[in-house]
Amino acid sequence: MDAIVDWDRDTPQWLAVLAAAGGCGSVPAPLHNALWPLYGPLTPAKSGEDFIIGQLGQSLDGRIATPTGHSHYINGKAAIVHLHRLRALVDAVVVGIGTVVADDPQLNVRHAAMNKGTLPPARVVIDPSGRLASTAKCLTEDGARRIVLRGMGADHVSVSGVETLHVPSAGGMKPADILAALRGIGLRRILVEGGAHTLSRFLQAGCLNRLHIMTAPMIIGSGPIGLHLADIDNLSAALRPRVASFALPEGDILFDCAF
Ligand SMILES: NC(=O)c1ccc[n+]([C@@H]2O[C@H](COP(=O)([O-])OP(=O)(O)OC[C@H]3O[C@@H](n4cnc5c(N)ncnc54)[C@H](OP(=O)(O)O)[C@@H]3O)[C@@H](O)[C@H]2O)c1
Repeated sequence: MDAIVDWDRDTPQWLAVLAAAGGCGSVPAPLHNALWPLYGPLTPAKSGEDFIIGQLGQSLDGRIATPTGHSHYINGKAAIVHLHRLRALVDAVVVGIGTVVADDPQLNVRHAAMNKGTLPPARVVIDPSGRLASTAKCLTEDGARRIVLRGMGADHVSVSGVETLHVPSAGGMKPADILAALRGIGLRRILVEGGAHTLSRFLQAGCLNRLHIMTAPMIIGSGPIGLHLADIDNLSAALRPRVASFALPEGDILFDCAF
């Protein structure tokens, strides 16, 4: 297992990863960069390539919160930097409305440097039934695109500058339809940040290229779990991604799953 010790906001190693990401493969892989095994696979091989990554922070027993919803923080500080690095490498960050209601996240890039001159990632909320409050922090005007996915025929979101995309929602929005709608407005590199329902649907639909599972050295023992997929009878039907693992400070272990 590789140990990653480089967790400052804009270390030379992270800046080298950004340079490679911004160059769309034209910059050679930074040699001797301890971050490259983790982030190199997330940099675009060529311009315009689709890439979908999910992320999940959980306890050893797979929980993402206590039964009362207390979840800050299961993982350590490096895990937060890692999440912001993932945001810095994508066109859009997608969350379900459940996460916005529970946490009111900002969904911006604060704990990692970004490539100069690139737009901050768009913030996308899947909100088929119109539960999103106009005061949600992720709708704050700060230069990033703010996009809400609603069912076909649903009202537009009436917050200045916020885009509404309509996606068929009978029986739930299909992740492939969500991705097609985002691709249609130029967003091809996507981080599915959570929560459990949203991430599980993308994984079940086979729509993730990669999944980062950050496991904290903690057993919660009760409360919601991060992934719910359809029942299987036999382990031969279990998903078996190619997995690399990385040790982080404070005992977290990051499992990088490639599908
Ligand atoms: N540990 C982590 O890494 C992490 C990351 C993010 C969030 N979280 C936690 O996750 C919890 C929230 O998770 P959650 O599962 O309750 O909610 P969620 O996944 O954030 O949102 C679920 C809701 O979003 C809508 N939605 C999402 N995908 C949809 C689809 N494909 N089709 C139709 N509707 C879709 C539905 O809204 P309607 O019900 O309105 O139809 C659904 O009920 C919070 O406690 C948060 O703290 C943890």
